[in-house]
Amino acid sequence: MPIQTHANAWILETQQTAYVLGLHASGRLVHLYWGPKLPFVSDYPGDHQWTIGSRPLEEFPFNGPDMFLREEYPTSAGIKFVEPCLKTRFADGVRDTQLQFEQAEILSGAVPELRLYLRDTVYPLRLVLHYRVWEAYDLIERFVTLTNEGDTPVAVDRLWSAQWHFPLGGHYYFNHLNGRWLNEFQLLREPLIEGAKVVESRRLTTSHHHNPWFAVDRGTTTEDQGEVWFGALAWSGNWKLVAEVTEFASTRISLGLNDWDFSWRLDPGQSLSAPGSLAGYTAQGFGEASRHFHDYVRETILPHGNTPHKVLYNSWEATLFNVDEESQVHFAEIAAGMGVELFVMDDGWFHRRDSDHAALGDWWPDERKFPNGLAPLIKRVNDLGMDFGLWIEPEMVSPDSELYRAHPDWAIHYPTRPRTEGRHQLILNLGKPEVQDTLIALLDRLLSENNIAFIKWDMNRNVSEPGWADAPGDPREIWVRYVQGVYRVWDTLRQRHPRVTWQSCSGGGGRADLEILRRADQIWVSDNTNPASRLTIQAGFSHLFPAATLESWVTDMGEDFLPLDFRFHVSMCGVLGIGADLRKWSDEDITAARKWIALYKELRPVIQQGDCYRLLSPFEQPFSAVQYVSKDKTAGVLFAFLTHRLDPVPPLIVYPRGLEPERLYRIEGFEDTRSGTAWMNTGIALGLGSFSSTVRRIWNASPA
Ligand code: GLA
Repeated sequence: MPIQTHANAWILETQQTAYVLGLHASGRLVHLYWGPKLPFVSDYPGDHQWTIGSRPLEEFPFNGPDMFLREEYPTSAGIKFVEPCLKTRFADGVRDTQLQFEQAEILSGAVPELRLYLRDTVYPLRLVLHYRVWEAYDLIERFVTLTNEGDTPVAVDRLWSAQWHFPLGGHYYFNHLNGRWLNEFQLLREPLIEGAKVVESRRLTTSHHHNPWFAVDRGTTTEDQGEVWFGALAWSGNWKLVAEVTEFASTRISLGLNDWDFSWRLDPGQSLSAPGSLAGYTAQGFGEASRHFHDYVRETILPHGNTPHKVLYNSWEATLFNVDEESQVHFAEIAAGMGVELFVMDDGWFHRRDSDHAALGDWWPDERKFPNGLAPLIKRVNDLGMDFGLWIEPEMVSPDSELYRAHPDWAIHYPTRPRTEGRHQLILNLGKPEVQDTLIALLDRLLSENNIAFIKWDMNRNVSEPGWADAPGDPREIWVRYVQGVYRVWDTLRQRHPRVTWQSCSGGGGRADLEILRRADQIWVSDNTNPASRLTIQAGFSHLFPAATLESWVTDMGEDFLPLDFRFHVSMCGVLGIGADLRKWSDEDITAARKWIALYKELRPVIQQGDCYRLLSPFEQPFSAVQYVSKDKTAGVLFAFLTHRLDPVPPLIVYPRGLEPERLYRIEGFEDTRSGTAWMNTGIALGLGSFSSTVRRIWNASPA
């Protein structure tokens, strides 16, 4: 039974774990347990009593009970100074929310759900806490819905999705992803000490700088063993994560919509839901935590599920805006000859787009470059046996564009301030329904008139002057309404064109999160395509996202010091693409590319659909390795890389993982047939010199 009740507590059990919350004698909803599943329902603990000597702590005036009770969803109420999840203001000026539990509801189904209904003690405001149990993935999904049942508006100044509590008494480490444009997903690890640590986005998108993902451990956890509590927020706009250790040594992470510059006018009868936050527990290290998320992403949220991704070519880094029918056909012919399956035309194809100074918003083919529209190019690409894909950046407008000249007021701006341009462009206010409708019409037409199989959806600047003069509610709702608008446009186009594969790009990995992956099948992880940089970017990305969502091109970046094989191997760790200037590639390069593309197609099911094991971290040393194993454990592949290291290099040993202990395997490059246990415990020695790499297939050698 995934959801049970026992002695005023609700017990949520997944395959391996349990999450328990209960109703405290004071009426508060408190967190009781999160860890391995226990044998008996009666094993789950009640709450701990805090005392000074033998007297309960709440008898002393500087510590209201809320300071040490681990509330599941604290509000700003009572004597409480921990981070609340909800802040409201009522019409009469009252600024706290005092919630009382009313009832619980358990919904069965494929994803069982516990709903807890709470209501303010004085005002007609209702809050529902939702807990969904994703049994197979050991994940709990939480979100909340706030409803104004009164007849005056309520201002919502903060609405978070969840507060996740870690077992009392521990000293924890906070692992998170940090970075910047061209260097996303860098893994950071730091001890959590008393006080609050904040990571967030204020940039309108998920951001290159931090990702709404966390993993918390007690300091000794490795890739393969140890406890990890891990989670993420499914939201593509401003978000905030607060990791807090209270003076009562209670460690918790709260996350949700960012409350910076935010307020929402909740009108009578209206509801506002916070995005979902998913979290899980494992005792098998960071690797297992990632694999839970990978399975969840592939099997439950990706629009096309486990459908394999094609090898693509894109000429952006070779041509920039300089595209036209003839030159693109030339690239397409070379690409097809190498075994490429999807030809994508990037920026530069639409009405008067010759540089980044103009044209965003005018989403029809440029008459000079494509006098007969896109059809002849697409036909040629299709005749060469490839699908055709296209780049768009729908949320943007260039001041020098027909769209802007017609609707200058559609750009996000403050009427009295100059409009700060980024890359010579402004952002359309996608909170406005008329903007959404215009984009839907323009892009629907593009997709209806052309045989387009793939769209790269880009978003190339951060926000400034976030005004909204005629906002329907509080202008600060823009942060949420904009993202809801992006979702609406994308969802509508998806629904009308269900076969199209979409990629989420925001100058690289600026919009990578669990919610965008309900629309996008894959993510353009970074504009940095230098394979040496990619090693860490891709390793960080893999903590949350599966290889099937990681588009990775072989380009000319790094060619000065990295061999082509190395560049291919790095990109083969995700969804392989090519973005190099093929006009400059020698016959040997083309032949090598053909070989790697063919091998990638063979290995693709294991890489995209199998389990990922990070064997050696590029964050820690110049020798790194990653391995993929098919779900049935009959096939695998191992990639290893050495960047610079001074000779003499000690033997480079890697220990494969994830093999079935008693099954026999062969590993490419080694003569012997050995059991999975043997390979995993004796390891394999790889002879790599500086800036070299290797790929090793792993085969089942057990008799059928
Ligand atoms: C962004 C993307 C690039 C490319 C350019 C086109 O920077 O990340 O891959 O599409 O835009 O302008």
